[in-house]
Amino acid sequence: MAETFYITTAIDYVNGLPHIGHAYEKIAADILARHFKQRGKDVFLLTGSDEHGIKIQKTAQERGISPKEHCDETSVEFKKAWAKIDIDYDRYIRTTDEDHIKLVQWMFKELLKKGDIYKSSYTGLYCDGCEAFLSARDLDENGCCPTHQKKPQEIQEENYFFKLSKYKDRIIEHIKTHPNFILPEYRAAEILNQLENIEDISVSRSKKSVTWGIDVPNDEEQIIYVWMDALSNYITGVGCLEDKELFNRYWPCDIHMIGKDILKFHSIYWIGFLMAMEIELPKTIFAHGWITIDETKMSKSLGNVISPASLMEAFELQDADSIRYFLMTTAPFGKDGNYSDEEFKAKVNADLANNLGNLLNRTLSMLLKYFDGEIKDFAITDCSSEIAKLAEQTAQDVKAKFDSCQITEAIEKVLLLVDHTNKYVNDTAPWSLAKTEEGLKECAKVLYNVLETMRFAGILLYPVIPNISQKIYNQLGFEDIIKNIKLEELEWGELKTGKIASKETINPVFLRLDSEIAQDKKK
Ligand code: MSP
Repeated sequence: MAETFYITTAIDYVNGLPHIGHAYEKIAADILARHFKQRGKDVFLLTGSDEHGIKIQKTAQERGISPKEHCDETSVEFKKAWAKIDIDYDRYIRTTDEDHIKLVQWMFKELLKKGDIYKSSYTGLYCDGCEAFLSARDLDENGCCPTHQKKPQEIQEENYFFKLSKYKDRIIEHIKTHPNFILPEYRAAEILNQLENIEDISVSRSKKSVTWGIDVPNDEEQIIYVWMDALSNYITGVGCLEDKELFNRYWPCDIHMIGKDILKFHSIYWIGFLMAMEIELPKTIFAHGWITIDETKMSKSLGNVISPASLMEAFELQDADSIRYFLMTTAPFGKDGNYSDEEFKAKVNADLANNLGNLLNRTLSMLLKYFDGEIKDFAITDCSSEIAKLAEQTAQDVKAKFDSCQITEAIEKVLLLVDHTNKYVNDTAPWSLAKTEEGLKECAKVLYNVLETMRFAGILLYPVIPNISQKIYNQLGFEDIIKNIKLEELEWGELKTGKIASKETINPVFLRLDSEIAQDKKK
């Protein structure tokens, strides 16, 4: 049986529409999922929406519709957005799904029975943006939530509490003894710091303050607080209560892919809940950085929120490959990145159109010109050449980078190979070689080397740019679906002899972005 790989994304609040920040995370998870499928793993990718809580209740109220109607509409928008950018998920979970509601109530009852949940009255500072109580220590110098730049509201309520403090030492121990548990590793220190002062946490809210949520079992006045509801989506999603076989197959989760702003909830609260439920812990929580727009935080009030669909429309893109590529290379994975029209155009034109696309195009054109589009028997080279070795080494490096979630760095390895191949073409000058009969044989070998390298690059970049990679693969004379190619089978020398290119088959795999069209249409 194939080894499994279970990866989740954060589930998005549906009080707004999907933007490229949300997309960033879904793309990262999708890339890892696709890569590990290429490695023969049995993959499950879970994404979805977080639909309860005061924020969503208020948004629905403002729209004059019920929260459920609002969530039904908005979750469809999220699904459409993910389809447009090729997020190939296995389940889209909604926290309003029946099986999820059942699971959350079951968990609540179990913890109550165990004595890990108790009722107590409470005065706290609530931030609607975080949907969380903050302590005075969490606030900035103006008394505001640092993430949402708003003063939290003082709330006095009778709530149910989870005995997080009981698990504090075990959580600290787990983090200290599992270096891959929180990635990038440098983020673990900040969590260990926060754990020092951790207290029991509220897991319910009074219906006097918020009505839109999952009812606390046997208590008509309380609803379950959103983070307990939201976090447990990760176990509902693979059938914790309803499909034991599925659950045993995929749990524990390999990677929770989340933003840096919600690491505390994942690496402290979630772990506490799981420990209390005696459920195995996830293997890795990866906290990615944030995408800014023109170096500014995206926000509705600034009017600088960009959706993936609007970008595709503005640049008249057929698919989202260039957006996927740009977002994943704008900063080392884990750090904050930035989007600007200028950087986007410059980067994808340079890397996808020039480096990758032109290389393929001009090599195939030479193959057509000098060999009538045919790979001759005498063109075949073995894996002893420097370029073949580099291609095979790149495949190994890419795997190693993906193993530690270094998506940007994995992509860079392939681009280095492409750069090197461009240089190889310029150095060997196949157009000069083609001038003599003796040189023509050498020219055939050079073109073969380049095209073989392009095959490696296409397959290795497939998780990032699936559509462009498929085109590369087809233009190299393969009819197969690139998705089905396994990395274990990636070896030098697979390119077939015979005619692979004709005037009709040679097309640019990526068209340069036109600079003028974009500007105004985007918002
Ligand atoms: N609903 C919670 C998550 C619950 S997970 C059990 C939430 N939702 S959110 O809609 O605010 O954010 C969803 C994800 O998108 C988070 O991981 C968040 O970090 C990420 N991002 C939101 N804005 C982002 C950027 N500008 N850039 C990158 N990621 C961003 O938090």
